[in-house]
Amino acid sequence: MKVLVIGCGGREHMLVKKLNQSARVTEVFVAPGNAGIRAEATCINIAIDAIDELLRFAKKEAIEWTIVGPEIPLANGIVDQFRAADLNIFGPTKAAALIESSKDFSKTLMKKYHIPTARFQTFTDSNQAKLYIKEQGAPIVVKADGLAEGKGVVVAMTEQEACEAVEQMLESNCFGAAGAQVVIEEFLIGEEFSLFAFVEGEAVYPMIPARDYKRAFDGDQGPNTGGMGAYSSVPDVSEADLEFTTETILKPVARAMVAEGRPYTGVLYAGLIQTVSGIKVIEFNARFGDPETQVVLPLLENDLIDVIEAVNAGVDPKLTWRDGYAVGVVVASSGYPKVCQKGVVLPKLPETIDGYLIQAGTTFDDQQHLVSNGGRIFLVGSVQKTLAEASEEVYRYLRNIDQMDNFYYRTDIGVI
Ligand code: AMP
Ligand code: GLY
Repeated sequence: MKVLVIGCGGREHMLVKKLNQSARVTEVFVAPGNAGIRAEATCINIAIDAIDELLRFAKKEAIEWTIVGPEIPLANGIVDQFRAADLNIFGPTKAAALIESSKDFSKTLMKKYHIPTARFQTFTDSNQAKLYIKEQGAPIVVKADGLAEGKGVVVAMTEQEACEAVEQMLESNCFGAAGAQVVIEEFLIGEEFSLFAFVEGEAVYPMIPARDYKRAFDGDQGPNTGGMGAYSSVPDVSEADLEFTTETILKPVARAMVAEGRPYTGVLYAGLIQTVSGIKVIEFNARFGDPETQVVLPLLENDLIDVIEAVNAGVDPKLTWRDGYAVGVVVASSGYPKVCQKGVVLPKLPETIDGYLIQAGTTFDDQQHLVSNGGRIFLVGSVQKTLAEASEEVYRYLRNIDQMDNFYYRTDIGVI
């Protein structure tokens, strides 16, 4: 079976590793991939948003399954186009991907179907938004409605900060059309976790929870990033918490999407927070998360293609999970998330690791040196019996890398 993966980050590298373990997969293609993926799959030079070209490629190569990593092609309707051409593709349609591509849509849906989430209101008028902020007081959260590469959320500690965020989005159009509406919501306090589920219509098959570290520096300091590391499973998320999340959040939202005429298929990502008044939704994403995928998939025992085919056929994929914990730590360019110097030669990576290496923003320069090509460069992961052992193994490896001057990583991932 030939499989096509769309994307170029760490998530896609992990998907490739998992697909290469499948007895049924003969060749994995990745559009466009990265330097690490090149060693494990056939990279093709097609951009993630060039849907017509991707479609032509999938037809020409007789690809049996296409798996979409990032949100942009989903929001642009890649699933609709592939299905119209009778090609198998795993992900939500454009209408269903709206659960990620419009925060107003997702919040309104949750309100209508009584799915627990922060109180909110949506605005297009800057003055009205600012009045609401003054009424509600700070801290308060301002979110651009549309896709903004994870940069569209401002957790404002003061009313002034919140008003400035509104001005930037609604008056200065800093996110273009994605910021033409803003959602302003209640600030929630608690520990966050992510839970992915395979979904087909009303059928929901949750994976195991993961915890992502969004801030750049140790102790959750510094700016928000795409994620500096993750671990799975999460000891402080109990079986009862998972049951609650499945029954009051995941299943109701899947039913809601069917009721709204937007049946969901693919991986649904729930970003959750454990507040004093229970678990609530921070956001939904229409895809696997990054870097959580790099710690969830190493624990999945099933063949990923079997899972996708079962889910697609409406059959329980009977997910089984390895005992133990996975920890993944991201190594990023020193200026990340503000500036990412590209073309910096990567340090030499020691070969002995009781774990795995995942590449993200990497490429080869003209002299065939492995160089940086983005903010998050690579991830070091390990699966061990305990969270502490997994974390220790990853940090033991990282401490053995020389020439890390142009890169940095957090030193507290999975250290609890
Ligand atoms: P998002 O891009 O929606 O995942 O938001 C990025 C981060 O902002 C989340 O992981 C939270 O840490 C924080 N955040 C988003 N919404 C809220 C909220 N209502 N209350 C507190 N923190 C939030
Ligand atoms: N880890 C956050 C995301 O994938 O959006």
